[in-house]
Amino acid sequence: MNILKQEFTIIGSGIAGLYAALKLAEQNKKVLLITKSSLSESNTRYAQGGIAGVLPENKLDSVDLHVKDTLKAGAGLSNKEMAEFISEKSASVINDLINYGLPFDRDKNNNLCFGLEGAHSVKRILHSGGDVTGKNMETILHNLVQNNPNISIKRYTNAVELLVNSDNTCNGLIIYDENSNCYEAIISNAVIIATGGAGQVYSNTTNPKIATGDGIAIAYKAGATIQDMEFIQFHPTALCQNQDGTRFLISEAVRGEGAILKNKNNEIFTYKYDNRGDLAPRDIVTRAIFWELEKTKAKQVYLDTSPIPEDKTKQRFPGIIKTCKENNIDFINTLVPVSPAAHYLMGGIKVNKEGHTSINNLFAIGETSCTSLHGANRLASNSLLECIVIANEVAAFINNTDFKNIEINDIIESHPEIDNIIQKYSTNKLEKTLNLFELTVKLKDTMWHNAGIVRSKEKLATALDDIKELKTKFNKNFKCANEEEYEFRNLLILAELIVKSALLRKESRGAHFRDDYPQQNSIAKHSYIQKGFRYKCQEI
Ligand code: FAD
Ligand code: SIN
Repeated sequence: MNILKQEFTIIGSGIAGLYAALKLAEQNKKVLLITKSSLSESNTRYAQGGIAGVLPENKLDSVDLHVKDTLKAGAGLSNKEMAEFISEKSASVINDLINYGLPFDRDKNNNLCFGLEGAHSVKRILHSGGDVTGKNMETILHNLVQNNPNISIKRYTNAVELLVNSDNTCNGLIIYDENSNCYEAIISNAVIIATGGAGQVYSNTTNPKIATGDGIAIAYKAGATIQDMEFIQFHPTALCQNQDGTRFLISEAVRGEGAILKNKNNEIFTYKYDNRGDLAPRDIVTRAIFWELEKTKAKQVYLDTSPIPEDKTKQRFPGIIKTCKENNIDFINTLVPVSPAAHYLMGGIKVNKEGHTSINNLFAIGETSCTSLHGANRLASNSLLECIVIANEVAAFINNTDFKNIEINDIIESHPEIDNIIQKYSTNKLEKTLNLFELTVKLKDTMWHNAGIVRSKEKLATALDDIKELKTKFNKNFKCANEEEYEFRNLLILAELIVKSALLRKESRGAHFRDDYPQQNSIAKHSYIQKGFRYKCQEI
């Protein structure tokens, strides 16, 4: 097996990974960026609503107000200092994106346009191309990354295991190239995980196929502390269409512009559940839809876009109009069928504001990480912001730190445990390939029905039994036969982390709702887990 040396390695090419790569490369650091699909495939690419930011020209807004909205949505679990830090940095990182060439939408006087989404008290969301903010971000950043001589890229390459030595320090990782079926060991001074979310653990999700929680799974296996995994955000409005579980999002910005949710009897219903109606925080609107569907015995509710002027709809939502049309839905003139889908993971690898994990020289940024900004429920459009602010901080930390330049031979000679990991992947023994179709369907279905929007002890226990059974059938813990198996291995780990954390949290808070514990506890606690230790809840 090849063993290579790279100064710094970043796993993942969403906004967090691309932005960190640029910031390191601009200071002449040599970066290897590995990504398991094409360079642009990511959750980032599908972001619609936009990026939240407090800009000086938005006279109605302030950092205080943004922080207040973030903390309120986070239901007692958001960290105030983190929210202040990220909000304060928002203007500078957004200006940086503008300088990189990102065309945010502007009015006819060339002023930036600000959009509204649920639980924001003022318009503060910047968007691009109407509703294709993420696509434009990915395109601009990946062009810059591809043309930067300090960045080398390995596409269609999976990170499958971290090389963490007995001093709790990350010395690199094992990668697997799906096309050549080959492994390589990469020895690195530091590794940054930017692998995004895990929506694919559910049978209904807005996330693309790559979102299998790989970074969290490999960090957990390597001993990193993982936080708040029970908090999964279910977006209220994914399009009901014939697809294989990956569902197209109808942005919250559509309700921000005035569209109204209706039930199958054409009745407005969200105000029955919360006086903020359609623009209440996401978890509240999602549960309102969940209960309304149960009550009316329906599979979908509807978005009525008629309150939005037609030319505004056309200008603001060209991407949504196009996809609806491809699905034979007239977005402007008919009711649009929608229902909730898994969308965002608030929990993840525990980090501080410089992206440090609990393992030395291992960093995590973006959706894979947990900074405690989002708490129990993320405020819309705060994710892209968090991704770039923390990516910038990690890069600044690395740029200002004298990392010991580790050499391949030194590592292998002084750390037999690292050599052992490398040897496991060096054998030529072909792994038996498993047919994963049924196992995957079973896992995703049990997660959707038993660890989804409304949970209980009984449902979660059923999910845990199913996961245990699937683990026994799968019976592979480290080396797998192909990418699909690595992803399934990781989904099983994620499912177990989510379910066990949800069982431990005997309350309802933010996106985690248990009908056997419908009240919120008076004391807010985070949940943590580290491999080999018990799950624990700790006061914040
Ligand atoms: P991602 O963008 O998901 O990138 C992860 C990368 O890691 C990918 O390149 C992937 O291929 C790679 N990868 C994964 N595993 C491996 C592995 N094992 N080896 C190598 N590479 C790997 N947030 C907002 O703030 N505003 C919005 O408007 C918004 N809209 C959204 C709309 C949709 C449909 C979705 C799904 C999410 C939306 N979000 C939005 C959330 C936001 O887009 C994501 O949280 C954010 O883009 C995550 O960025 P990231 O860089 O952390 O991860
Ligand atoms: C949306 O456009 O509704 C998604 C925004 C987000 O997830 O932050």
